[in-house]
Amino acid sequence: MSTDRLHLLVPAAGTGSRAGTAQPKQYQPLAGRALIVHTLHALQGIAGVSGIHVVVSPDDTQLATLLAAEPNLNRVRVHPVGGATRAASVSAGLQALRDAGAHERDWVLVHDAARCLVQPDWVQALIQACRSDPVGGLLAMPLPDTLKQANADERVQATLARGDKWLAQTPQMFRWDDLSRALRQAGPQVTDEASAIEALGLAPRLVRGNALNFKVTYPEDLRLAEWVLAARSSDPHGEPLT
Ligand code: CTP
Ligand code: MG
Repeated sequence: MSTDRLHLLVPAAGTGSRAGTAQPKQYQPLAGRALIVHTLHALQGIAGVSGIHVVVSPDDTQLATLLAAEPNLNRVRVHPVGGATRAASVSAGLQALRDAGAHERDWVLVHDAARCLVQPDWVQALIQACRSDPVGGLLAMPLPDTLKQANADERVQATLARGDKWLAQTPQMFRWDDLSRALRQAGPQVTDEASAIEALGLAPRLVRGNALNFKVTYPEDLRLAEWVLAARSSDPHGEPLT
């Protein structure tokens, strides 16, 4: 078992254009708290993590204001170094993490701010599965639906075998030096860390996540996330809604 430290890196510098909200979706109130505050409370519950580092836009003042009212989130540090793409934000965050004392072989778990229903147990399962892995890995779900390939007119061209298809989630867990190199070589267009690592010829481990660890992307996702959060808080001793 490796003894290298674990750091959480949370990209939160997007504008949330597909969510259709007036402000970036990470600040949308859900069940009485900003979406990102739910995410950070869940991440704060993960054992064995050195710190939680959030990347926001350079002109963002909202997160600092929210954190001032959340004394329990005392392991969260904010880095106003976000870029034009998610990959640029993560790359800048990795540098900020190194400046804050991370070592080259430390593990970094990158988690989307927008996945606010994440549960500590799911992340612990990822850590458990990847800590002694030479590459690292990600939470993901086997594809539940039949998969269609479309033509240019949005008509079905083919039905693809889905047995080997997975939906990538986060956290995605890789070593600081591998991930920094991978993102540098892959460029700003990659939409997750694993695809950059794959481009190095490495094969990240897939660890089964949970369907509720979806990324809030569209307006209906905001409503669904709010229902789940409200159900969890109204019945904290009942059957866990996980
Ligand atoms: N993100 C980021 N920097 C960017 C773009 C995205 O840190 N330049 C973050 C988002 O804040 C989010 C995560 O990456 O937590 C996943 O991205 P996505 O769901 O695509 O969020 P947005 O880019 O904000 O949304 P959209 O694509 O609908 O505009
Ligand atoms: Mg985006």
